[in-house]
Amino acid sequence: MRRFVVLAHKVPTSGEFSLNDLPGTAGRIDVLCRAVGAGLFVSHGVRTDTEVTLLVQNSVQIRIAGDRVKRLNPDERSTAAILQIALRGAALEEVETTPGVVASQSSLSQVLDRLYQLEAHPVVLHEQGNPIEGFSVPANPAFILSDHEDFTDEDETALADLPHLSLGPMPLHTSQCITIVHYLLDREEGDVAADLVLCHKVWGEPKARLITGLLEDFGIPSNLLSHAVPSLYPGMMNGLGEVRIMVRPRDLERARAIIGDYFEHPVDE
Ligand SMILES: C[S@@+](CC[C@H](N)C(=O)[O-])C[C@H]1O[C@@H](n2cnc3c(N)ncnc32)[C@H](O)[C@@H]1O
Repeated sequence: MRRFVVLAHKVPTSGEFSLNDLPGTAGRIDVLCRAVGAGLFVSHGVRTDTEVTLLVQNSVQIRIAGDRVKRLNPDERSTAAILQIALRGAALEEVETTPGVVASQSSLSQVLDRLYQLEAHPVVLHEQGNPIEGFSVPANPAFILSDHEDFTDEDETALADLPHLSLGPMPLHTSQCITIVHYLLDREEGDVAADLVLCHKVWGEPKARLITGLLEDFGIPSNLLSHAVPSLYPGMMNGLGEVRIMVRPRDLERARAIIGDYFEHPVDE
């Protein structure tokens, strides 16, 4: 399950605003609507493995579950209408205000407690965090973002112990960050599911290691598969069997070009 938690700082918790003025009296609820869309929609469908939580002014929580939500459309106005119903209906106990949308009075620490109970792993998305590239995103991640404003000091204190990850030095919109995270996780899941493919065959492990080192310099991970050729003189093999260099399907073309530039024309049969 993927989760996104957006901390909203200006949306009126009462839900009293005009749907004709989303960026104004509605306290930039348009930012939340776009975040919900980025979190849950794909072309012609909804991500059933994703949940978006909006925490409004550290006092009302609205949770939208991709596997249960109904009547959610990609336009901001109708999403704002669903959020308005949720804000108006929020009570001490959780209430399902429209199908798949649950609202309750809640604070950031309560949101975090629920995540821990679900064995989710919260991480903060922050412009000044550590680069996400070097971070191994845990299973069941929950990404916490702010809305159009920076995290408040109070938010920062509550989130201080969590990993802070950056998507680069460029300040992005909340919805853009969510799209990028989905892209990275989709790609990672694709890599795990896809079998490695043969990129090149060489004789002997030392040469194979030279090539994998080069590929690594270009950010391409690879695996070696050794095929020891049966010999009359097994004692003389000394690792000089055939070694297959295997890469991810999406790296194949680039890896072959690099090997071709630095070593030799790759052999892939
Ligand atoms: C529009 S930004 C907040 C305001 C922003 N600091 C500014 O003044 O432009 C919304 C949120 O998206 C996330 N965010 C934006 N850019 C990011 C980046 N480069 N890396 C990681 N998270 C980012 C953060 O959670 C941020 O609080």
